[in-house]
Amino acid sequence: MTNASTLKIEPNAQGFAQAAQIWRGGGLVAFGTETVYGLGADAGNDTAVAQIYAAKGRPSFNPLIVHLADQKNVAEYCEFNDDARALADAFWPGALTLVLPLRPQARVSKLVTAGLDTLAVRVPDHAIAQALLRQFGGPIAAPSANPSGRISPTTPEHVMAGLNGKIDAVVDGGPCGVGVESTIISCVGAPAMLRAGGIPVEAISACLGRQIAMPDDPDTPMSPGQLASHYAPKGRVRLNADQAAPHEVLLGFGAVDAPLNLSPAGDLTEAAARLFDCLHQLDAMGAKDIAVSPIPDHGLGRAINDRLRRAAAPRD
Ligand code: TXA
Ligand code: MG
Repeated sequence: MTNASTLKIEPNAQGFAQAAQIWRGGGLVAFGTETVYGLGADAGNDTAVAQIYAAKGRPSFNPLIVHLADQKNVAEYCEFNDDARALADAFWPGALTLVLPLRPQARVSKLVTAGLDTLAVRVPDHAIAQALLRQFGGPIAAPSANPSGRISPTTPEHVMAGLNGKIDAVVDGGPCGVGVESTIISCVGAPAMLRAGGIPVEAISACLGRQIAMPDDPDTPMSPGQLASHYAPKGRVRLNADQAAPHEVLLGFGAVDAPLNLSPAGDLTEAAARLFDCLHQLDAMGAKDIAVSPIPDHGLGRAINDRLRRAAAPRD
């Protein structure tokens, strides 16, 4: 898609109708969810889905998450076992993506599943995302609305900074409340966590009544999209830094003296919500070397550390 510029759509009845119209015509519309902004297209339209890959510059082996308005809609596309049903009842709408067996007749582009016989699905907990999905009335494929490998967007301005002119429109949904992507759980066979995210693994295990396999377990299937270097700001990133060297900019956490702080109070929820915005700000400041304070590795801290490790990973 090469548009002169990307339309900013207001979140009202007229805007929702306009966005749905663009989706029906095979176009790309970014929209806010409680986790991050998604780059949406009609999941049943091969050409539209191909445009997502093109706009993001995303490697085509990486399958996409499909968004639907409620669990009843999801059941038309996927099969639920007891674990999947329990998780969906507990956490939808919300920051949880389930990987489920795809129903053979479901109208979903092979480009969405990258040819797999499973589908990643999510019901977002965001009034504007819900209104858009209901207005469209079908499955919307939406990866995060950023160029591949770059920082995920949590405001419409972040979306514009990365994709202006490459997509048709962005619907203003304000800043994202959760601020990190959804937790991905595979319910194909025994439940396994493929990606840490907005719902802490402790809550998932409590819901299922047992510990689930984690991404670093040798038994857990690799999520095809979990590239080592991802979510990267332009500068080099050093983790677990107690203080910054003279040439570094400190991204703080807790009671440290830093130009940018994820949460001066040491609150992991606040830190998750601010993470990507802080990384965008470091880009805007032109920070070449970034040091990051240690983040506790429990609850939402796991999702934050996962994103930071990818931001710090060697790039080619
Ligand atoms: O919060 C979120 O999940 C955001 C918002 C927009 O909903 N979306 C998002 O999508 O993060 P994306 O495309 O950036 O991440 C999708 C992840 C990838 O790591 C991909 O490999 C994995 O989901 N995935 C998708 N389909 C899968 C499948 N069938 N089996 C295993 N992993 C899958
Ligand atoms: Mg992404």
